[in-house]
Amino acid sequence: MTRNIWDPIKPKGTRLVSHEQPKRILVANAKGGCGKTTVAINVAALLAKDGSHVALIDHDPQGSSSQWLSVRSEKLPSIYSVAAFRRCEVNTTRSYQLNVPSNTTHIVIDTPAGLSGNVLSDHLRHCDLILIPVVPSAIDIRAATSFIKNVLLSPGFRIQPKPIAVIANRVKPNTLGYKKLAIFLASLNIPFICSLRDTQHYVRAAEFGMGIHDFTSPHEKDLSDWQSLKNWLKIQFER
Ligand SMILES: Nc1ncnc2c1ncn2[C@@H]1O[C@H](COP(=O)(O)OP(=O)(O)OP(=O)(O)O)[C@@H](O)[C@H]1O
Ligand SMILES: [Mg+2]
Repeated sequence: MTRNIWDPIKPKGTRLVSHEQPKRILVANAKGGCGKTTVAINVAALLAKDGSHVALIDHDPQGSSSQWLSVRSEKLPSIYSVAAFRRCEVNTTRSYQLNVPSNTTHIVIDTPAGLSGNVLSDHLRHCDLILIPVVPSAIDIRAATSFIKNVLLSPGFRIQPKPIAVIANRVKPNTLGYKKLAIFLASLNIPFICSLRDTQHYVRAAEFGMGIHDFTSPHEKDLSDWQSLKNWLKIQFER
């Protein structure tokens, strides 16, 4: 039987239990508009398309990823929605509000701009992998540099470091910003896993509750960009 690449792999020596802990993928960057929601919804859609049981947790009061899920067709692979930004209803605890179905294999967490301090630390403590989308412009790279420093120094990360990867978003290849981003990441030894091109495909897909992999014929370049991301995630899940 072939194994779905997203199936979580049990670490050697662990006891077989009925439900694995879902893998939690945090998408974050304090800079607004860098593509956090675009990356979160496309990762969720890609995992769901590959047969995983995915929950998308939206911590942003703008509710962009929850709205994306609300217009997603029932014909597409389903993704469980958690609008974590909403206040708890009376008689509901926070942990109940954040509950996901017991068969969930992957949780994708979309976060708001301006994430810092204790809230950032809390998110870092409760995730397995961190994806940081960065637009390769001077202003965004400066903001990303300071965000990555905050992540590395945050108690939630220092207590238990986790893999971090950067995704260059809205890339125009061979521009100065792109080269600067690559040099900066190399200096921190943080992998630069893929670069997503600037295309209306992301905008159109988002409008209809789709990821770009839900299009019947996605663009070759987009497929190869996402393949790099998929490969990186697979390696991390196998550790
Ligand atoms: N690769 C891309 N190509 C074209 N448009 C993109 C791309 N990535 C994101 N966008 C568009 O840029 C805008 C901002 O993206 P997005 O909402 O994902 O950023 P964000 O970091 O979640 O923003 P916020 O900080 O407000 O939550 C959106 O309109 C989105 O559709
Ligand atoms: Mg967003």
